[in-house]
Parts: sequence; structure tokens; C-alpha cells
Amino acid sequence: MDILTLDKKKIPNHIAVIMDGNGRWAKKRDLDRVEGHKEGVEAVKRTVKACIEADVRFLTIYAFSIENWARPLAEVESLMELMVFALNSEIEELNRQGVSLKTIGDISMLPKNAKAVLQDCIDRTKNNNKLTLVVALSYGSRWEIVEACKKIASNVNKGEQKIDDICEKTLNDSMCIPDLPDPDLLIRTSGERRLSNFLLWQLAYTEFYFIDKFWPDFQKEDLYLAIYNYQNRERRFGKTSEQI
Ligand code: IPE
Ligand code: IPE
Ligand code: MG
Repeated sequence: MDILTLDKKKIPNHIAVIMDGNGRWAKKRDLDRVEGHKEGVEAVKRTVKACIEADVRFLTIYAFSIENWARPLAEVESLMELMVFALNSEIEELNRQGVSLKTIGDISMLPKNAKAVLQDCIDRTKNNNKLTLVVALSYGSRWEIVEACKKIASNVNKGEQKIDDICEKTLNDSMCIPDLPDPDLLIRTSGERRLSNFLLWQLAYTEFYFIDKFWPDFQKEDLYLAIYNYQNRERRFGKTSEQI
């Protein structure tokens, strides 16, 4: 699939990706799972480039879930180290490409140095506007929704929010990134067909695309094929086909 095949007027504004299958990719090659995660970083770099070339404005990637903290300590530690390494080595390139980095998730759970490096990258890329790269880290959608409820309840307590005025926008504005548009397209690799606690609120009307390839094997062409597939769907948002 070539980028030229795509309809420039129907490029998804926001793509969300559940990058899955790093461990199985490694296992198939008799390698340690960490090798799969390292190769996964390369796939992230390719995907960021491909999004920029296609003029996608927001890319959200699921890098580490709240549930992933329950993995063996050695894997968790390697993932944290890998993230720090990748951020340090890619910050210049992100700036060159005009990428603004953001995160969603319970960052307070991250090791201190990872938190510091992450915050530094966020600060140093905040004025870029070609692509917003949102990294879901220590992220769980139920956690995010619970946090949003707490914020709203606290505002009600303080008399700053009337219960009758609570609407969908109130919840939207209480999420980790208030002004983030909903994803248009969700891609999950590795053949799994579930959300694994990812963006439950935001994916209400998102188009889903599943691909059997493991994340480290994900290529630019796979992204373009996903976009092509998306462009040939009819998003009705509850209306009839005739109304669209
Ligand atoms: C996705 O790959 C990356 C993370 C969850 C951190 P996995 O590590 O889940 O790989 P599989 O699903 O075990 O193959
Ligand atoms: C989801 O993948 C989280 C990320 C891709 C970071 P998992 O591999 O953790 O999901 P489950 O446990 O198979 O649902
Ligand atoms: Mg997995």
C-alpha cells in the first residue's frame, strides 16, 4: 500500500495504536522478550514518520498499561530503562520532525528518573505542532475515568460545579488531556481483539482495525493499508446511510 493511494481529504485526524506482540515476536526467534520491546521502539519510529508523511495530527500509542505493572519485575525494569533510553536518543529527532510529546496515565507510579526524563521531553517539545504523540504510560482507562469523576466531585464539593451542569464535555475536560480529540481509527496488532483497558470513553465511535502481525513487524505500508481501509468505511454516528 502506497501513501499516494490514500485520499488526502479523508486522513484520520487521530490514530490510536495498541502496540501488541513484542513478547511473541521475540519468543518466535528464541530471544528474550526485551529484544521484542527494543524492536518495538523501531516500529514506533517508523509509525511516527509515516503519520507525519500522511498528515495525521494525533498519534496515541499504548506503551505500558496499569495492568502491565504486574509483569515480572525484570521485564518491567527493562521496559522503564528502554523508555528512558529511547526518549534520550530520540528527543532531537522528535524536535526536528515537529513532534510534540504528551502522556496519559498514572505517571506517579513511574521510577523517579523515568519521570524526570519524560517531563523534560514533554517540556522540550511542547511548542511543536506537526504531530502530537501521546504515549499511554502506566495507563488504564478505568483509572482515568475514576480520576475524572474525583475531579468533578471535588469541584462540586467546592461549589465550582453544579451537578445539573455535568455533561459529556465535563467528563472530556476532566480526562488526562482535556482537549484531545477522540481517535478516528484504532489499530491493534498481534491478532488480539480486545481493548485491554484502553481509552474506553474516547473510543465510543472510533473505527477498529486489527492486524495479525506482531508490533515489531509493523511497517509504514501496514499503517497506510489501515488508513485505506478506514477511508472505505461509512461512519454513520447513529444516522442512516442516506443522511450521510
Ligand atoms: C506489547 O507487547 C508491549 C507491552 C505490553 C509493554 P507484549 O509485551 O504484550 O507482547 P506479547 O503480547 O506478550 O506478545
Ligand atoms: C496491552 O497489551 C497494553 C499495551 C500494548 C501496552 P497487553 O499485552 O498488556 O494486553 P493483554 O493483557 O494481552 O490484554
Ligand atoms: Mg501483549
